[in-house]
Amino acid sequence: MELEKISRLLHGGDYNPDQWLDRPDVLEDDIHLMKQAGVNVVTLGVFSWSSVEPKEGVFTFEWLDDIMNKLYKNGIYVILSTPSGARPPWLAKKYPEVMRTDENRVRQLYGCRENHCESSKIWREKVRIIDEKLAEHYAHHPALIMWHLSNEMYGRCYCEHCAENFRKWLRAKYGTIDELNRHYWSAFWSHRYTCFEEIEPPSKHGEMQLHALVIDYSRFYSDLMIDFISIEKNAVKKYNPEIPVTTNMFNITSGINYDKLAKTLDVISWDSYPRWHCQRDKTTEWKNAVEAAFTFDFVRSLHNKPFYVMESVPSVPSQFNICKLKRPKMHLLSAIQMIAFGSDSVQYFQWRKSNGAIEKFHGSVIDHNGSSDTRVFCDVCEVGAMLEKMSYIKGAASVSEAAVIWDWDNIRALQEQVGLRHDKSFFEKLPQRHYEAFLKNYVNTDIISSESDFSRYKVIAAPALYMFKPGTAEKIRQFVENGGHFVLTYYSGITNENDLCFSGTASNPVYAPYSLNDVFGIKVKEIDGLCDDEYNELEFNGRTYKALTCCELLDIDDSESLSKYMHDFYKGICAVSKKQYGRGCAYYLACDTENDFLHEFYKYILRNADASKIIGSEYVKDVMVKQRGESIFIMNFSTEERTINANGKIITLSGYDFAVLN
Ligand code: GLA
Ligand code: ZN
Repeated sequence: MELEKISRLLHGGDYNPDQWLDRPDVLEDDIHLMKQAGVNVVTLGVFSWSSVEPKEGVFTFEWLDDIMNKLYKNGIYVILSTPSGARPPWLAKKYPEVMRTDENRVRQLYGCRENHCESSKIWREKVRIIDEKLAEHYAHHPALIMWHLSNEMYGRCYCEHCAENFRKWLRAKYGTIDELNRHYWSAFWSHRYTCFEEIEPPSKHGEMQLHALVIDYSRFYSDLMIDFISIEKNAVKKYNPEIPVTTNMFNITSGINYDKLAKTLDVISWDSYPRWHCQRDKTTEWKNAVEAAFTFDFVRSLHNKPFYVMESVPSVPSQFNICKLKRPKMHLLSAIQMIAFGSDSVQYFQWRKSNGAIEKFHGSVIDHNGSSDTRVFCDVCEVGAMLEKMSYIKGAASVSEAAVIWDWDNIRALQEQVGLRHDKSFFEKLPQRHYEAFLKNYVNTDIISSESDFSRYKVIAAPALYMFKPGTAEKIRQFVENGGHFVLTYYSGITNENDLCFSGTASNPVYAPYSLNDVFGIKVKEIDGLCDDEYNELEFNGRTYKALTCCELLDIDDSESLSKYMHDFYKGICAVSKKQYGRGCAYYLACDTENDFLHEFYKYILRNADASKIIGSEYVKDVMVKQRGESIFIMNFSTEERTINANGKIITLSGYDFAVLN
């Protein structure tokens, strides 16, 4: 694959020179400054449609030839983008159907970006044509190392073409309308359909209560986007199948099922924009670092391989309410975190700050002043020099014995469910809270879906695995039987893949977690929702912790109770259970808890499972540790000095400092 042309870690980012085609002096500067900053790659053409096809059917490559050639001559490789992230006005004027129709069935006017109807045949055809033109022209250019398909795909269209495609998708999934009605539980409120033609995509002023329909529309649209990406992939591969393709993923709840999308891509890439310094309380910088780490481990786990950070900001991101400057040393620290967690690149959006339009204040490597005498430019040069020295790590894998499940369908269902708690973010963030406990125990951790292969782990945590898809329960059972340690929490094993609750009868009652009562040795009888200022308590390993948000009331069968509720009418009922099953162990956590409990709980489980720690030390506040290949990265996300014992080596790190042990 072409990416292997470069043995170094990549350093660079989005380069949009078409904004300065009338300023050859600026373009000349760009090349000099890139070399100075140790830039070895740029992502070109992300939003270049109107420069490449200024009029329908008229293609102008001269400017791009010139830039590609110059970059190559100067040792800078190119990730070339297909321009489908944004379209020129002529296209929407002539073919209005390419614009999205929103939930209220109002078609958008021309403007913005990433708002196309992925069903539109004309849109698909226009994108295919320009992609093929680009590929025909550049697929064998020596500078080209990868194709960047589109840009941060997200959102949905609700037009008639999409509705029609949705109905086709439903026919393929359910076969008959009766079968669909059965899964949608549409007898409730008399919503029973008599034919597929009656089905409309969900809308706030239409149907939102049939959760299976709402979730299916998300699934359908995710499939549609993936199908759209495959058209782009085929278009560019036609001229040189050796060039790998990627698309920049950016927000795991953005709408696309990234586990499925990953199967279409050769390489995974990610846009990383943590909110550094955005908390008033400086001690919570750790939280930003955890969030970044979680997303890195998520994307790294998609292919179980290194990925590429495609975008990040070298200074101030303009998309947040408050634009905080990156504090000294944070640029280097955040870059090393990307590498530690499996990225083979540090790239920025964008190289040079735009003079106008929406992102004119989005921090770039080169500011409006054009100078190299800036703090940001020096920081970027420092990262360039560091990456140059760290090429040995390129391609190195991370091995994890622990995993946390973050499952797209499950999260979609939890976002829709009305019961227990209506706060979507509680469930979205839950896997990250469990992940944080693993991080604090200094073990490498993967983030996987419920469909991933479980067999390579010693410990798996499934927080609120509400939806059991076909085969999920059986996989959990086998994992434990074969010696794995599995943690399941409250609100698990409640619905099937279509969000239909598992149910029983008087002679054959069914309790959550569905079909796993014998594995966990418990039955869930009831679940209590707690107000934000309420708590129960439980004792674990000699300390008392708060139980928050929700408490399940369990019947214990043949499991051991590790902890019990201390108050209310369920005082004395088991809150945490453990059962040996087969060669492994099944743990059930019946309530939400404060994070300190999770830290201790997983410490106990990791020890029981004999999972390897990266370093033996107990958690040192704000110090994050990750192993990649043979290298151990130790990062201090506090502004204060920290000391840690790294397997016998005493390491003292000043604020925002790090060490790499090889
Ligand atoms: C996203 C987009 C970029 C740019 C940046 C910064 O990541 O992909 O085009 O808009 O945000 O805001
Ligand atoms: Zn549409």
